[in-house]
Amino acid sequence: MRNTIFLIGAPASGKTTLGRRMAERLGVSFVDLDDAIASASGCTIPEIFASRGEGAFRDLESETLAEVVKRGDAGVVALGGGALLRDANRALCESSGTVLCLETPSEDELVRRIGSAAGSRPLGNRAKERAAHYASFPNRIETSFEAGPSLVVVGKGFALPMLAGRRAVVDGTVAEVYRDRLDEPLAVVPSGEANKTIATVGSLWKAFAAAGLGRRDTVVAVGGGVTGDITGFAAATWMRGIDWINVPTTLLSMVDASTGGKTGCDLPEGKNLAGAFHAPKLVLVDVDFLKTLSPALLADGRAEMIKHEIVGGLKGDSANVPTAAEVAANLMVKVGIVREDPYEKLGRRILLNCGHTVAHAVEKATNYSVSHGAAVAIGCIEEAGLAVRRGLAGGEWPKELAARFAAAGLPTVLPSGLSFEALVPLMRGDKKRAGGTVVFALPCGWGDVRAVPVDLSEEAWQR
Ligand SMILES: NC(=O)c1ccc[n+]([C@@H]2O[C@H](COP(=O)([O-])OP(=O)(O)OC[C@H]3O[C@@H](n4cnc5c(N)ncnc54)[C@H](O)[C@@H]3O)[C@@H](O)[C@H]2O)c1
Ligand SMILES: [Zn+2]
Repeated sequence: MRNTIFLIGAPASGKTTLGRRMAERLGVSFVDLDDAIASASGCTIPEIFASRGEGAFRDLESETLAEVVKRGDAGVVALGGGALLRDANRALCESSGTVLCLETPSEDELVRRIGSAAGSRPLGNRAKERAAHYASFPNRIETSFEAGPSLVVVGKGFALPMLAGRRAVVDGTVAEVYRDRLDEPLAVVPSGEANKTIATVGSLWKAFAAAGLGRRDTVVAVGGGVTGDITGFAAATWMRGIDWINVPTTLLSMVDASTGGKTGCDLPEGKNLAGAFHAPKLVLVDVDFLKTLSPALLADGRAEMIKHEIVGGLKGDSANVPTAAEVAANLMVKVGIVREDPYEKLGRRILLNCGHTVAHAVEKATNYSVSHGAAVAIGCIEEAGLAVRRGLAGGEWPKELAARFAAAGLPTVLPSGLSFEALVPLMRGDKKRAGGTVVFALPCGWGDVRAVPVDLSEEAWQR
């Protein structure tokens, strides 16, 4: 068995639910320790507490844990909230696998969950007393949720231990930077957008063939949006579609590219032209990867975070490396919209294109010397100007947005020598076009993005 994952956390923090789902997506077996104790003793946990007391329960718990570890066939084990209070139990789990601690939900949420299971959880009020115990586990899961067919888990320090023994396609830089903590990759994707090609997809097919990957196998992508898009596409097309797990390692890929199901590669004729909808079954978003990102790459990701703040009306301010909670809240904006319009057919998903019609034109006009994030910042501000001219936003709105992007270290004006007029022919070629006019997702305020057809010739003429 690979490295066993042990889930610890306050009662009602969701260990059993998450453990079961995670095991299913990882293709490993699941054990709920409380269930194992109950079936071994023939009594429910509250019955054991009532008739024999806590000490006897803890002894039974330690014995059952030792048996589960000795058997060695459990991939994911959900522990009881107090199972690692005994040092020997903790040492046993830490030496035979990885312990991940679920964050304690807010008090209101705990009351709601425990209230609904009244009587079955004798230690429900102990979350507070044990706060220091739970805080002592370094590998943490902030939250988890379903995004279409994907289970998304967000936290810190938990992803790398979960990859032990798995077949991974890894970004070149990530493979280098994390070489001491990763197993030998199945394949390495050379870093950079220039490698997001069908030739790289072909090299992955070859690697899959060499490894004998069958229909029931799963591959893992570890890297930024390039690695995720390419690996997802190779998985979508290998034997007509095998499962994959995505481990995004850039901020941009965490909050944007990792969910939504789009996979693909670039062609000489244009970006992302070949591809498929093929969502990963599991997405592990681990903010510890952000520690090794350059400030420029962090700023790039922040541009998409600010776009989500606009779309979702979120209050964001972080100038520091975002926390798992911030990343989770931000990602939820995209997930909510994709849920309503998974295949981009209902006109909801276009809202995520906010700032992007101008951004794509800026990237093309500068031969991609302006990064995507920088182009998104400029694009949102330019498009906010379009909203103002159409009476859809107040005159101060573009300045307010510019201040937010500038605080995140992003540019706010078109590069010198590049005019809006020069972008018009490029915007007309944008994919999201309907008839003669171009439909923009115009940012009109926090939480207010509207799909608006814009006649670009008239716009350029008026300027
Ligand atoms: N599928 C989607 O829905 C979707 C959405 C948005 C963007 N994308 C795609 O994502 C790509 C952009 O993603 P990206 O910005 O992550 O680019 P990327 O994958 O090229 O990564 C950027 C750089 O960061 C390096 N890197 C990655 N993780 C690192 C880490 N933890 N520490 C240090 N360096 C690290 C990489 O080696 C690379 O040089 C584009 O191809 C875009 O089309 C896809
Ligand atoms: Zn983008």
